[in-house]
Amino acid sequence: MIRGVALGDLDKLVDLEASVFGDQAWSRQALRFELSAPSRTYLVWDDQGAILGYGGYWSGERDAELMTIGVLPEARNRGIAGFLLARLIAGADREGLQRMNLKVRVDNSAAIDLYEDFGFSQTGLCKGYYQPEDVDAWVMTRPLISVGPGPVGFVSNKLSKGQERIIDHE
Ligand SMILES: CC(C)(COP(=O)(O)OP(=O)(O)OC[C@H]1O[C@@H](n2cnc3c(N)ncnc32)[C@H](O)[C@@H]1OP(=O)(O)O)[C@@H](O)C(=O)NCCC(=O)NCCS
Repeated sequence: MIRGVALGDLDKLVDLEASVFGDQAWSRQALRFELSAPSRTYLVWDDQGAILGYGGYWSGERDAELMTIGVLPEARNRGIAGFLLARLIAGADREGLQRMNLKVRVDNSAAIDLYEDFGFSQTGLCKGYYQPEDVDAWVMTRPLISVGPGPVGFVSNKLSKGQERIIDHE
C-alpha cells in the first residue's frame, strides 16, 4: 500500500537509499532533514512493513519539484514507481500547482522512460549536474491541471499489465 512517510521509517529508508542509489545515496542526516523539511510530500510503498519504494516532491509557489523516487532492485518492473509517481502528481495537482519539474541523469533510461510514460518531457539540460562523474541532467517538466478537491488520478500506460484503474484528467 502507499502511505505517507513517517519519521519512524528513517532506518528503512536509509537502507533503501543505499540499495537504490549506492554511493549517491542521501546520508541519514540528509534524509532526516529532507523528510522533515517544510513543503515536502513523501510517500512510501509499504508491503507489510517492508518499504519497497519511496518518492517525494517539494511544493514551490507555482511548481512542484520531484526530489527523488526509487524502488528496491528486487521490486522493480512491478509498477511500484508508477503508482508512487501517479500519487505524487495527483497530490501536487490537488495543491493547485501548475507544473512538476525534475532532473534526471541523461543516462538513466529506466527513469526517463517512466517519466515520459507519465507525461514529462525534456525542457532543459544542466551540464555537469552530477558530480564528480560530470554527467549532465535533463530537466523534465509535466504540466498539472488543477481539478479541485476530491480524488484525482492519472492513467499510466501500464493498465494492460494489471494495474489498478486510475482515472486520467488530461
Ligand atoms: C526508475 C525506477 C524508480 C523505476 O521503478 P519501477 O518500480 O521498476 O518502475 P515501474 O515498475 O513503475 O515501471 C518500470 C517498468 O516496469 C514495467 N511494468 C510496470 N508494471 C508492470 C507489471 N505489472 N508487470 C510487468 N512490467 C511492468 C513498465 O512497463 C516499465 O517498463 P518500461 O520501462 O518498458 O515502460 C527504478 O528503476 C529505480 O529505483 N531506479 C534507481 C533509482 C533512480 O534512478 N531513480 C530516479 C532518479 S531521477
